[in-house]
Amino acid sequence: MGGGGMVADRRPVLVTGGTGKTGRRVAAGLWARGWPVRIAARSVAPAADAVRFDWADRAGWPAVLDGVGAVYVAYAPDLAVPGAADDITAFAAAARAAGVGRIVMLSGRGEPGAEAAERALAAAGQEGAGRDGAGFAWTVLRASWFVQNFTEGLLADALAAGELALPVGDVPEPFIDADDIAEIAVKALTEDGLGGRILELTGPRSLSFAAAMAEISRLTGRPLSYRQIPLADFLAGLQAQGVPGDMRDFLAWLFTTLFDGRNSATTPTVPEILGRPARDLARCWPAA
Ligand SMILES: NC(=O)c1ccc[n+]([C@@H]2O[C@H](COP(=O)([O-])OP(=O)(O)OC[C@H]3O[C@@H](n4cnc5c(N)ncnc54)[C@H](OP(=O)(O)O)[C@@H]3O)[C@@H](O)[C@H]2O)c1
Repeated sequence: MGGGGMVADRRPVLVTGGTGKTGRRVAAGLWARGWPVRIAARSVAPAADAVRFDWADRAGWPAVLDGVGAVYVAYAPDLAVPGAADDITAFAAAARAAGVGRIVMLSGRGEPGAEAAERALAAAGQEGAGRDGAGFAWTVLRASWFVQNFTEGLLADALAAGELALPVGDVPEPFIDADDIAEIAVKALTEDGLGGRILELTGPRSLSFAAAMAEISRLTGRPLSYRQIPLADFLAGLQAQGVPGDMRDFLAWLFTTLFDGRNSATTPTVPEILGRPARDLARCWPAA
């Protein structure tokens, strides 16, 4: 599945979220294949292979897209927030106008709010393709929760302190390794065969947060526990840490909506595409 020839277009790949969990890995994978890369984020110093990019600054997009052959889209903060579908619609139109041939977009599994953005991408890609050559190939990667949320992201400090507290009960989640997402993104950006598809990507097994913390504790030999807390306590904790209101609202929605069992099943997609098992969470905590 998904085995295709190399894409002939060797123009640079624009990697949005290029300093983030998946973007950094996508850029590294492209460089490893000898592919030219343009890292895009708000905080990068402009350079030959890096460009300042802000989802809130549409006027800046044409310059960022100039000369680009393909784009990895990691929208911030999430495709389910209000305005995301509008931004993706406008970005896809700007990408078409710039002659971009291929877009791979990261999305969240089980997020109905993200589907409008996914549809907008697919519509812009298909429109005109084969007639005026103005369409682009598109692939959506709908990923489950990243293992790297525990090591590099939102929850890393809690794990370092020895206790994770979330408003989530005993719901299993097939945590996925961001390296697997990036490997598939690089394949979709540089090879034919994955265009026009929405891929549901998960890790190899599903664990509740409590079971995951118990396993990480065993692997590291350090005490680590999980506690389910009321949503109000979680939100108060975020406020005390200075997390802005719109992000608190988003996280409240995320933890009260997505962890209802809808995403608990694993999918065979990662092994089907990569020809090997999905990376297991245990890999990130080599036994002490
Ligand atoms: N974490 C998960 O478990 C999970 C699961 C499924 C899907 N996702 C999706 O993954 C995406 C996030 O990707 P990620 O986890 O790889 O990134 P990340 O680690 O959250 O990092 C965010 C990246 O986006 C950039 N960024 C933030 N705000 C921006 C803005 N306004 N304009 C332009 N760039 C901005 C950041 O750099 P600057 O701050 O320098 O701009 C950084 O490079 C979201 O769409 C999320 O829905 C996440």
